[in-house]
Amino acid sequence: MSKSFSAEHEQLGRAVTEIIVAYARGLDESRVTSEATPADLEKLFDEPLPQDGIGADEILKCFTEDIAPHAMQIPSPRYYGLFNPTPLPIGVWADALASAINQNGAAWRNSPSASVIEARVLRWLCDLIGYDQESFGTLTSGGSEANLIGLKCARDRAHELVRDKGVRAAAGDLIVYASEQCHYSFEKSVDILGLGRESLRKVATDASFHISIDALREEIERDLSGGRVPCCVAGSAGATSTGIVDPLDKLADIAREYKLWFHVDAAYGGALAFSEKRKQRLRGIERADSITIDPHKWMFVPFACGATLVREGGRVLRDAFDITPEYLSEDRGGADVEYDFFRYGQLGTRRFNALKVWMALKFLGVRGYAELIERQIDLTHYLSARLDGLRDFERVGQVETAVCCFRFMPDEAQALDETERDRLQRQLQQRIERSGEAWISTTVLKGRRALRVNINSFLTEQRHIDNLVELLGREGTKLIQERSRQ
Ligand SMILES: Cc1ncc(COP(=O)(O)O)c(C=O)c1O
Repeated sequence: MSKSFSAEHEQLGRAVTEIIVAYARGLDESRVTSEATPADLEKLFDEPLPQDGIGADEILKCFTEDIAPHAMQIPSPRYYGLFNPTPLPIGVWADALASAINQNGAAWRNSPSASVIEARVLRWLCDLIGYDQESFGTLTSGGSEANLIGLKCARDRAHELVRDKGVRAAAGDLIVYASEQCHYSFEKSVDILGLGRESLRKVATDASFHISIDALREEIERDLSGGRVPCCVAGSAGATSTGIVDPLDKLADIAREYKLWFHVDAAYGGALAFSEKRKQRLRGIERADSITIDPHKWMFVPFACGATLVREGGRVLRDAFDITPEYLSEDRGGADVEYDFFRYGQLGTRRFNALKVWMALKFLGVRGYAELIERQIDLTHYLSARLDGLRDFERVGQVETAVCCFRFMPDEAQALDETERDRLQRQLQQRIERSGEAWISTTVLKGRRALRVNINSFLTEQRHIDNLVELLGREGTKLIQERSRQ
């Protein structure tokens, strides 16, 4: 290495800063999607394993010319996707700082300040959600891991031997209940935990996609009379497809009545707690035994960072995960083992993800977050009102967070069967995608394909929503013309 370590940082830091600033400056105008196919990109990046190194400037040029333009522009104000936020600049740079000091947050000894900051961030998240001082948690790679950890605690609580002897030997057929709208990580989790995918009951929802309490009760009673062991009920606070929040207080009552573990997947909607105006939607969440909340969704920190919170404190997580390898003996004569986060979850080596959450929370404060979140919900209501004013669009469900679902149903769709109407939604989504002017997703609600918009960029303004409505109308008209020619 010809340059000194610090000089290399300086040179790269300046160059990368320029790239990021130019990227941020161009975001509002650039295409949201790339037109490249997987084959185009394979060709672009097709080269053998480098034998000799090249200069950083050449590598950065490749980033600017080949990688960034073919990325999905998730930070764009016109990206209306899957709970993926525009990252706060302080979070982006916090990540660089975390990489520079490269702490390993598994054991306190290898991350003294980082582990204590992680505990502080978890304290803040617990306070935010309304848990008391006993509560604790762990940061995770995201909501999937956080849900897995919550369900592991539920499983282990079902019988004292289940962790060591396995599920069936110790506890019988454990059953988990969640709404049919639950995230797919629940299905994966029950599989990973040895319960089997069929142990997840996907409970029917009402017309607005909230879990039906009557249907839940019926499922539990059916399982009890069939000799199975109801173990956990999970509520959604911000379901992936619709953004709706289940009736958490009622779920907490059911959990108490049947002695079930109560988990809330608030990966997205947990951020409602920032807003005095909106947080009553989460009523009952503080009664959950465990909660998933993802800073990398509606808290605008860059990937990857989720969290599991547990009401009864770190003991619950340690009962599920603690282990002491020889080289990390507990006998260190202090409270430091309390900060060994490898004892609270599945991960060994753990990145200093708490830094970006800590910095973001300090930078915005509860009030700053409340302002952003309320604005995004207001913009979503604005979008839904605009769509309600258009003949060709039909809204599905209701707006409870910053998600709006709807269907393209022009007069021409009346003559189509349901399969063709579903195809129409996908075709419109694809046209929007190809236009590069915005990105929206589709989902399936009550068996029918719908279009879905989530406003998760703090850069999105009313003019962007007006543009989106205009784009939907324009591409919709072209789509109908194209179909009539076929
Ligand atoms: C409600 C909900 N829970 C959990 C997850 C999983 O989170 P992650 O993708 O961070 O693993 C998602 C992802 O979108 C989600 O929407």
